[in-house]
Amino acid sequence: MNFVVRLYVGMNTETKKIVNPLTKPLKGVINIPPDKSISHRAAIFSALVKEPILINNFSSGGDCKSTLNVLQQLGVEVNFQSEKNLIISNKKGFKQPSNILDAGNSGTTIRLMSGVLAGSSITSTLTGDESLQKRPMARIIKPLKQMGADIKAENNDTTAPITIKGSQLNGIIYNSPVASAQVKSCILLAGLHAEGKTVLKEPYTSRDHTERLLSYLGANIKTEDNKVQIQKSQLNSKPISIPGDISSAAFFLVAACIVPGSEIIVRDVGLNPTRTGIIDVLKQMNANIEILNKRTECNEEIGDVKVSYSDLKGINIGKDMIPGIIDELPIIAVAATQATGTTIAREAEELRHKESDRIKAICTELKKLGADIEEAIDGFIIHGKTQLRGNCVLETYHDHRIAMCGYVAGLIALKPIQINEFQWVNISFPEFTQVFEKLS
Ligand code: S3P
Repeated sequence: MNFVVRLYVGMNTETKKIVNPLTKPLKGVINIPPDKSISHRAAIFSALVKEPILINNFSSGGDCKSTLNVLQQLGVEVNFQSEKNLIISNKKGFKQPSNILDAGNSGTTIRLMSGVLAGSSITSTLTGDESLQKRPMARIIKPLKQMGADIKAENNDTTAPITIKGSQLNGIIYNSPVASAQVKSCILLAGLHAEGKTVLKEPYTSRDHTERLLSYLGANIKTEDNKVQIQKSQLNSKPISIPGDISSAAFFLVAACIVPGSEIIVRDVGLNPTRTGIIDVLKQMNANIEILNKRTECNEEIGDVKVSYSDLKGINIGKDMIPGIIDELPIIAVAATQATGTTIAREAEELRHKESDRIKAICTELKKLGADIEEAIDGFIIHGKTQLRGNCVLETYHDHRIAMCGYVAGLIALKPIQINEFQWVNISFPEFTQVFEKLS
């Protein structure tokens, strides 16, 4: 399906975005969009509860709309009370869908829903756009089959479309070869309806929103280091509030660090320790960052982040840090072009399997701008500090985060740049340019 036809209110429709170098600092207080990962989970888990659930501050990004569309195709009622508040109700349980379920560009939708549908009583096929159909699915299909799932996919069970005939599942003990929250969540959701215990161990702890939200809703789930155990449970109806997305905030945090004279506060940011790697990395790079007003809501930490222009230094990013910054590595690369010395990020091969091959994309685009960046098989090496030149045309590779990285780099270039197919920002952050314009 063609993404460009999926228009909705508030979205960015500029296909060729011109970014002019900033002539003044970024100053002010902003809010960023609701967390995408938690929004997906809030919607999907609410559909597993008999009573309706109220969700406050739900993401308006294209990916979370894909999750809502899939749920609606399964008979789930989605009622918006206001722009970002909705009630999800699935009193009758999932109905047999009459069409293929379209997860669009969203890896989280297809992988989490596969776990849910494997233990359901319906048969369904899940697919997505061109990019999603290329992304690896064997990582969920293999463990789901071990649980007894009746599941088939393209290319010898490695890519979408995925057809799932819901069946009785049995718990497994699974050592995941990848630190992936999508794989972990898929197996835990299957485990929620399986007979016996399901135990999942991962090499490093990936984001743990699934564990926190399932526990908040009353599931029988326990975490110990990088091991999670779940047992069949009924979830309770409780209102869910979603914090701001630290992965969206990351573009502003880096921009404030690299635009001279800047000082901003990003309010109500999710500060779950499995997601705050961007703050740790920027602090290690000598950034001026402060956390204010820290509190906990629905089992998730939340607070305000104050950041100002910083004299950044290059660092060596350890492999244990990678899962916690997996979505932020491209914008960290932009920061590294403005850091004195060398920044090295290796053992990040997973980045090649995101919405685009993000190692290739960020290295190619930053080189166009004049950065000194070497592409490694599993990461990048950047020598700074470089004055970015601009006067070039950047591509987005149909990837929202690459589009936003180009925009931030353009703010500090000497000459204006053009970003083609900029509308991909709508996948996670339709209001991206408006929020930037508020600060400049
Ligand atoms: C996500 C997990 C991460 C991340 C993605 C969202 C999630 O993917 O890159 O943007 O919501 O679970 P992996 O779990 O595959 O690393």
